[in-house]
Amino acid sequence: MTDVWSQRADAFRESPTHREGPDLDLLVEWCEPGDEVKVLDVATGGGHVARRLREQGCTVITADPAPGMKSDVVSRAEELPFEDGSFDVVTCRIAPHHFEDIRRAVAEMARVTQRLVVIEDNVFVDEQVEEAERLRDPTHVRCYTEDEWKEMLTDAGLEVEQLEHFQRHPVVDDWLARVDTPPEDAARVKELLGDHISDGVLTLDSIVVKARRSQK
Ligand SMILES: C[S@@+](CC[C@H](N)C(=O)[O-])C[C@H]1O[C@@H](n2cnc3c(N)ncnc32)[C@H](O)[C@@H]1O
Repeated sequence: MTDVWSQRADAFRESPTHREGPDLDLLVEWCEPGDEVKVLDVATGGGHVARRLREQGCTVITADPAPGMKSDVVSRAEELPFEDGSFDVVTCRIAPHHFEDIRRAVAEMARVTQRLVVIEDNVFVDEQVEEAERLRDPTHVRCYTEDEWKEMLTDAGLEVEQLEHFQRHPVVDDWLARVDTPPEDAARVKELLGDHISDGVLTLDSIVVKARRSQK
C-alpha cells in the first residue's frame, strides 16, 4: 500500500489551520502543561501539538504510523507500544476520523495515560458531509458526534471534564490540494459541501474534549 500520509507530510506541516488557531490554543491549555509533564502526541502529523507543548516545558513523545511524519515512534493509535500509565497526558488532534478502529484507539490512549486524554477532531455533521470527506480523502473513516465522543471516552474509563466546539476555516481549494483530490472528484466534493462553503472558504466543525482518568 502507498504511504499516502508520508507524501502529504510537508503539506500538513505548513497547513495554516493545523499550525495554529484558538482550537490548538485551548487544547494546549487543557493539557495543564509544565516542566514535569510527560506527553504522548498520537497521530502527530506535522507535529504542531508537540511543538506547542515543548514550548511550555513538557517532555513530548510523538507517534504516527507514517514514516514521513518523522515522529519519535512509528505507531498506529490502535496499538501504542507503551506500558500502562507511561504518560501524564495523551493528546490526539484532528486525526481520529482516520482511525480504522476508533474504540480500540481510545482504549489505548486511556491505557497509556495516568491523568488526561485531550483530543480534537472534526465532528459529525451529516452523511452528505461524510460522503464529501471520503471522496476528498479515501483515508477518511468517520467523524463522531459529541454524544459518541462522550460515550467512547467514558467506556474507556475516562471522565469528560470539559468540551468545546470550534469552527476551522480552510480555503477549500487548499484543503483539496493538501490530499491531492483529483479534479473531477474535487468538483463533486464542492457540490456536496455547498452549504458549508462561502467565498471559497469552508467551515469545518470540530470538538475539543478534555477527559480525565477515573480514580480507581
Ligand atoms: C491531519 S493529520 C494530524 C494532524 C496533527 N495532529 C496536527 O495537530 O496538526 C492526520 C494524521 O493521522 C495519522 N494516522 C492515520 N491513521 C492513523 C492511525 N490508525 N493511528 C494513528 N495515526 C494515524 C496520519 O499519518 C496523519 O499524520
